[in-house]
Amino acid sequence: MSIKLKFIGMAGAAMMAALGLKSDTGAGPDIQRQIEYCAAQATKTLATIPDTGVLPRSVPNNAKYWKFVEYGDWTSGFWPGELWYLYEATGDQKFLTAADKYTLLLTPLSVNKASDHDLGFQVFNSFGNGYRITKNPGYKEIILRTADTLATLYNPKVGTIQSWPHNNYGGHNTIIDNMMNLELLFWASKNGGDKKLYDIAVKHAETTMANHFRDDHSSYHVLVYDPQTGHKIKGVTAQGFADDSMWARGQAWAIYGFTMVYRETKDPKFLEFANKVARVYLDRLPKDLIPYWDFNAPGIPNEPRDASAAAITASALLELSALTDDKILKKEYRSKAEKMLTELSAKYQSHSLINAFLMHSTGHKPAGSEIDCSIVYADYYYLEALLRLKKMQ
Ligand code: GLY
Repeated sequence: MSIKLKFIGMAGAAMMAALGLKSDTGAGPDIQRQIEYCAAQATKTLATIPDTGVLPRSVPNNAKYWKFVEYGDWTSGFWPGELWYLYEATGDQKFLTAADKYTLLLTPLSVNKASDHDLGFQVFNSFGNGYRITKNPGYKEIILRTADTLATLYNPKVGTIQSWPHNNYGGHNTIIDNMMNLELLFWASKNGGDKKLYDIAVKHAETTMANHFRDDHSSYHVLVYDPQTGHKIKGVTAQGFADDSMWARGQAWAIYGFTMVYRETKDPKFLEFANKVARVYLDRLPKDLIPYWDFNAPGIPNEPRDASAAAITASALLELSALTDDKILKKEYRSKAEKMLTELSAKYQSHSLINAFLMHSTGHKPAGSEIDCSIVYADYYYLEALLRLKKMQ
């Protein structure tokens, strides 16, 4: 029987429930069913991944199989992070075994010289989730060492971590994505690491808040500073449409990042700022709440979407809804996050031939790379958002 025929005659709510799309509030997805879907997809990946020390990154457009990368790739922490979340959600030992195995692959990052800011994405999503769940002291040691490594990229004259030492933009560069990596520093400073790591994270967030945004609170992707004086030289883009456009994932990193900094500091100026960077994103979204890859992309509505930005934002909004005392914002963030997850689960799920959770993410459009495809960080934040929503219900 076709899906269409099967659901004829059902009331809207019953149909949504039967399709696995209904939550307690009526706006969100069927969380349990979505977690089971993610577990089944990850199980298929586990069965097909080559045992050569590689991790899944993305499924190229029109391909069926993951493109794999090694531990040094900026995305290496997301796959072990997913496995930790799946172990947490299901208790299935196979996910524990695999999470430990893929986490340990990243160990050299804690001792190698820092090549860029991505150490937080890599090590906090893998070892960080692993330590949160298992309390394995070996993991803790790696996280603490990596936080010290990340801090070597901090320039006190500028007040930020340099994101891409290998890219020459004519100064000390910091990208908005770097906000995400501050969580590693906060955690280390509160769990036996140097207290200076806390100060570095706060200063980075303050400097970014002061320089990295336009008057409407949309973010530049890259900010370039004079490394000697700390003066702002320019804001430019790397992965967005234009220097003055709002790259969707960049704004999503900002929403998530400032929400996390407020959680860690309880300084109200960060909450206020998180609300502002969320506002411009929410107000400019298309009706279905899934952004195009750049809010200023010239061919909208015929531009690729970015499901990863939607997943990151859904997860961030759930946390922001819990942190804010403003009842109107609380309700808006929660219901929009739930609607984003419902849309992703209904229209962005991978078809049966692809083992990722979601399709239609865009990695680096200007470089012609990873356009409208499955990417591992979209899956990671999708699953994280589902687990956050589950805990909130
Ligand atoms: N630069 C990391 C990202 O693509 O979001």
